[in-house]
Order: sequence, then structure tokens, then C-alpha cells
Amino acid sequence: MSPQSPAEGHATIRDLRLGRKTRKPAAKKGAKNPLRAGLRIERVPDPHVVVLFGATGDLAHRKVVPALFHLWVGNLLPERFALVCFGRRAFSDQEIRSSLRASLDKHARITPVDEERWAAFAARITYHQGGFDEPAAYASLSTKLAAIDTESGTDGNRLYYLATPASSFPEIVRSLGAAGLDHETADGGWRRVVIEKPFGRDLETAVKLNREVGKVFRESQVYRIDHYLGKETVRNILIFRFGNLIFEPIWHRRYIDHVQITVAESIGVEGRGAFYEETGALRDILQNHLLQLLTLVAMEPPANLEAEALRDEKVKVLRAIRPIPVEKVDQSVVRGQYGPGWVGATEATGYRSEPAVDPASETETFVAARLEIDDWRWAGVPFYLRAGKRLPKRATEIAIQFKDVPQHLFPTVGDEPEPNLLVIRIQPDEGILMRFAAKVPGLGIDVRPVNMDFAYGSAFTVESPDAYETLILDALLGDASLFTRADEVEAAWRIVDPIIDAWIAGPEPELPNYTSGTWGPDAADELLTREGRRWRRL
Ligand code: BG6
Repeated sequence: MSPQSPAEGHATIRDLRLGRKTRKPAAKKGAKNPLRAGLRIERVPDPHVVVLFGATGDLAHRKVVPALFHLWVGNLLPERFALVCFGRRAFSDQEIRSSLRASLDKHARITPVDEERWAAFAARITYHQGGFDEPAAYASLSTKLAAIDTESGTDGNRLYYLATPASSFPEIVRSLGAAGLDHETADGGWRRVVIEKPFGRDLETAVKLNREVGKVFRESQVYRIDHYLGKETVRNILIFRFGNLIFEPIWHRRYIDHVQITVAESIGVEGRGAFYEETGALRDILQNHLLQLLTLVAMEPPANLEAEALRDEKVKVLRAIRPIPVEKVDQSVVRGQYGPGWVGATEATGYRSEPAVDPASETETFVAARLEIDDWRWAGVPFYLRAGKRLPKRATEIAIQFKDVPQHLFPTVGDEPEPNLLVIRIQPDEGILMRFAAKVPGLGIDVRPVNMDFAYGSAFTVESPDAYETLILDALLGDASLFTRADEVEAAWRIVDPIIDAWIAGPEPELPNYTSGTWGPDAADELLTREGRRWRRL
């Protein structure tokens, strides 16, 4: 099936990514720039239906539907598009539209909501009630989808989006298969499935889930989401590393002392107590977001930008991470849980007092780990990762700490020399900072560190799309490069599994062990201080 060409006045993907709203009228046939022919960025998705499972849930309302609506507003969805909301609760078409519309007021990136565009979008939304394991609901879904194809010309293309609790993934996939909804049609209609995180609870369950999914869908039909990969600043890591000549030669154990990756959040569990009790920071952030950031920092240049080439390199990094033996986990991994305190001017309750949380809960809301990658580029360079809730501020960043100069020729102003540092600020205040030594003006030769700072906000005066817009559009285009492959998810769990095992087998932790509004337990600092290093102050 050939992709639609963008209609006149429709934005291309490149437009959206550059923040432009519409595309200049297309040049006449024959006058096309040959250099652009066949470029992915000139495509908009085929006509299709999105079937959204868990459509009444938080994720659908906060992220998935706003993202689809923004793509629609940017003319990045085809006219022949429909959204079928699948949920267990009883809703009429009108009710689901009104409730999604109300959520847009809270979660839309572009406000106020364009009512005219909304009316056209809403007309394409219907509701389908059913249990996730109810064969009759899938049989009627199949009839409904066939009717939409006939009436709306959606060509048999379907994206099944699983925005449900993880426990429902297997039954939905199984039911789609049993109803024959997975089969790609002979005339080219495609079927793809987007699966949210968490993908499994450990290696065993992830392998099992991969197997269940694999019984129904081919790997090329499966899109496992880690929304960090859709963030502009995360995608820019590859451009920074492989679109510039000057950084790659020093991206090496010869020059780099260590790497710190932080995902700090000031919020608590925000009404997701029940989910978080099952998950904890290790599974919620380290297994996916933190390890994905690590792979992008550590991977070798891919042969090309094809999904498989990129993911092969990422898997190689995950496989090269030295597994932490269960008996040594307490030397390399720290967990924490927040107690009551203050985050800025706001008083915060302790985790154990959050709704739907066990008052004696041992779930970690903070995790820090020291990992090593056994390959020629990184051997001996520690990667320190940390993630936590109710920390003093929201900040995600990657800090590449370079080694000190071999000889201090110049006197330093301040206590100690500050070797070169490169900081990739993922969010907020997105940008890249390079620290280097400069001469303090004057007659002497005193040296002080100064910063060269690139800020997205001032360098590009356009707003970035939300990660979900990027990822959903890529799934609709059939580009899996920003999604995690089956072996990649399993390789990540292989690193996390011994930590889970050690925590299960070990003594009860003394929790809570950090006050809300602080940078986590003291043990997280000791992880670095005992090696003569410290966490960067954010
Ligand atoms: C999600 C986690 O994957 O990422 C949440 O489940 C967390 O607990 C969120 O708050 C953080 O995402 P972001 O985009 O706000 O950094």
C-alpha cells in the first residue's frame, strides 16, 4: 500500500517536527525536488482506524487522545481516519466524545482547543463496549471495523493501542488473534499493535508476554512504547553524537571518567498508588527510561537509521552491561522511599500515607545503581543511574564527566579543579552544556570553569511535539526505530532481575529513608563518595 502524499495545505511530518503548521502548496508534478523523493518525512499515514483499548483510562485521556488530536490539527492524520474507543464501562458515542473533549481542556498541548477541528475529529470517534476477554465483544468489533472500512474508506488498516493495565495485555492480544483481527489482508491492509509499559514484571514474565504476543503478531507488527524515546531531547542524543564529528573521538574511556543519568521528579505517586505499589522505581523508570538513555549514550554508531540497525546497537550495549551478582546488589544498588516533608513550599505526605498504598509498604520510590559496560569503549567507566519521586525538583539529565587534565599548569580559582563536563538536559530547560576552563581576566593566570550553553528554547523558537505525538505517528507510518524490540526488553530485564531477586531474598529494608524534598537516601550519595565522586547538584 502506498502512503498518501500530503495534500496541499497539509503539514508534513517535517513541518510538525519543525513546529510549522502547514506545508507550502506542493510544487507541480515533475518539478519535485529529486533529493526529497522517497524521504520518510514526506509521508503521512495511510487511511486507518485506531482501536484504543482502555479508552476511559488515565493514559488515554492524558496522553494518547491529545496526541492523536494534535496530529489531526497538524493535518498529520489522513482524512480517512477513525478512532474506536474500546472500554469495559458503558458509554455512548456522545458520552465518550464529551469526556475526551473535557480532558483536552486539561491536557492539550495547544490551547485553546480549536472547536472546528475538534468537531471533525469527534465525528470520527465511536465507543465499543466490551470485556477485554469477551469473544463476543471482538466479534462485534470485527463487524464494526468492516463497516467503518466500507463507510469511511479506512482500507483495512488498523492500529490497536493497548492503554490498559499491563495485566490485560495478554488477554487482549489473545482475543484479537482469536477473532482474526491480527491478520494482514491480501490487499495490503496492515495490523499493528502498540503495547504500553510496563512490559512484564521481570525477565520471566516479559519472555512469557513476548511469547504470547508472538503467537498472534509478527515482531514487525509490534510497537512497544517507552515514551522517553519520543522526546525531542532524547532523539537529539543520536544527532549530537553522530551528526557531529568532534564529540565521537572523545566519547571513550580514555577521556571519560564516569557518566551520571538522573530522572528526578518532584511529584509523588499522584493518585497512582495501586499501580505504583505493584511497580516501584526500579521497574517504573530504571528498567526502561534510564536504561534506554544509557543505551543511547553508550551505543556504537549504527550502520544506518533503519529500526533494526539502531536497535541492534542498543541491544549490544544492554548485553555488555555486567550483571550484578545477587550477593553484591547491596554494594551497587540503593533503594529508597520518601517520608513526609516539603517539596518547595508544598507540604508532602509520606509514601506510606498515599491513597491505595500499604501503610507498611516496602515499595521503593527511589533507586540508584552503579553499572559497568564491558566493551572496548566503556570498560572501567562507571555509569551511575538514579530515579526518584518527591525529589527537590523535576530534572532529567545526562552528565558526561571527563577526566582531569594530566598536569595542572595553572592555578585554579576555587577549591578544586573542575574537569570538563558535558550535560545533556533532557527536561525541563532542554539544552546542552559544556564546561571548560577559562582564564580569569586580569594580569595573573588564574583559571575558572565557564559554561557554554545551548538552550532549545532560544535556539529554536518552536514548540516540540509531545513524545506521544512522535511515537504514534511513527507507529502509523510503520517506523519502529523508536520502539523497543522483544530482545531489547528482555536484555533490560536481565540487568534488573538480580536486583529484584536480591531485594526479595534480603532483609527488610528500613523505609522510609529519605525526606520528601531531598535528593534521596544517604546511601545513594555514598555510592559515589566511596569512589571519590559525587552526584551533580541539579
Ligand atoms: C512514566 C512513569 O513512565 O514516566 C511515571 O510511569 C513517571 O511514574 C513518568 O512519572 C515520567 O515521565 P515524564 O515524561 O514526565 O518524565
